[in-house]
Amino acid sequence: MKVYITRKIQSKAIKHLRDKGFTVSVYKEDKPIPRNILMKNIKNVDALIPLLTDKIDKEVIDNMNKCKIIACYSVGYENIDVDYAKHKNIMVTNTPDVLTDSTADLAMTLALACSRRLFESRKLIDDGKFKHWKPDLLLGYEIKNKIFGIIGAGRIGEATAKRAYAFGAKIIYHSRSVNKKMEKELKAKKTSLNKLLKISDFISLHVPSNERTYHLLNKENLKLLKSNAVIINTARGNIIDEIELVKILKKGKIFSAGLDVYENEPKIHPELLKLKNVVLAPHIGSATIEARTAMAMLAAKNVVNVLKGKKPLTPI
Ligand code: DGY
Repeated sequence: MKVYITRKIQSKAIKHLRDKGFTVSVYKEDKPIPRNILMKNIKNVDALIPLLTDKIDKEVIDNMNKCKIIACYSVGYENIDVDYAKHKNIMVTNTPDVLTDSTADLAMTLALACSRRLFESRKLIDDGKFKHWKPDLLLGYEIKNKIFGIIGAGRIGEATAKRAYAFGAKIIYHSRSVNKKMEKELKAKKTSLNKLLKISDFISLHVPSNERTYHLLNKENLKLLKSNAVIINTARGNIIDEIELVKILKKGKIFSAGLDVYENEPKIHPELLKLKNVVLAPHIGSATIEARTAMAMLAAKNVVNVLKGKKPLTPI
């Protein structure tokens, strides 16, 4: 049986698939697979492992004659027409859990880099402006005793909250359901979105991208933020209206933003590149050796299970 992977992923996973007797083909270029090549190469595959940069829509799904599983190498799956795949009896899986810690680590990294003005500090040194120690040089904020607002209290939101709590923050969260564990262990309080935006010093986004979360933070509610607020986005770019975010950052209405994801990824709003009060990363939330290896292995194991007639480990 044939497995097609749309980019070179960790070799351990490719070996695992080959050891189980599958024929594995990989798109070898270091760029997202062009649509025409994808269409050509997947016609007769039994399993597809796509990346989040591949749009797997009706046309692509219809183009696969006998595919049994689309095993995403990501936790997010907004690039897949899951309903249509299910309608065609194709299983869709993702990679939850295994990237929770690495993404939460990055959310905290961005929170700290923003609040302690790490990149402005480096720039000052690079520009040869570090002449002497000063009482008011690059003052930032501590996390201790601040209100840390988590939007979306799933796995990654909870792991980020845990880290912020360990730094001494008070945790509040906005989520569709109650997270009892966070309430018990972190004394977290559930609140409305507007209240969270009004009172938080740090705001970290952890919701998936879908029609409900599109521009969840927008022109109207971004006005509620405190002047010392730090916004962190390691989820998906379109959860914040990027143009409105740029406007408030430019006007200095909030302290800073730490972004790992962008509305028109990989394009970055040109104004973001000029602003001092932002920290930018190129969508590296899960980019640790541990997480990416585990993501690749989980996708491979889902493929093995489904092609051998067993249940997948992490179905959507
Ligand atoms: C995901 O998995 O959805 C992340 O954005 C990349 O690992």
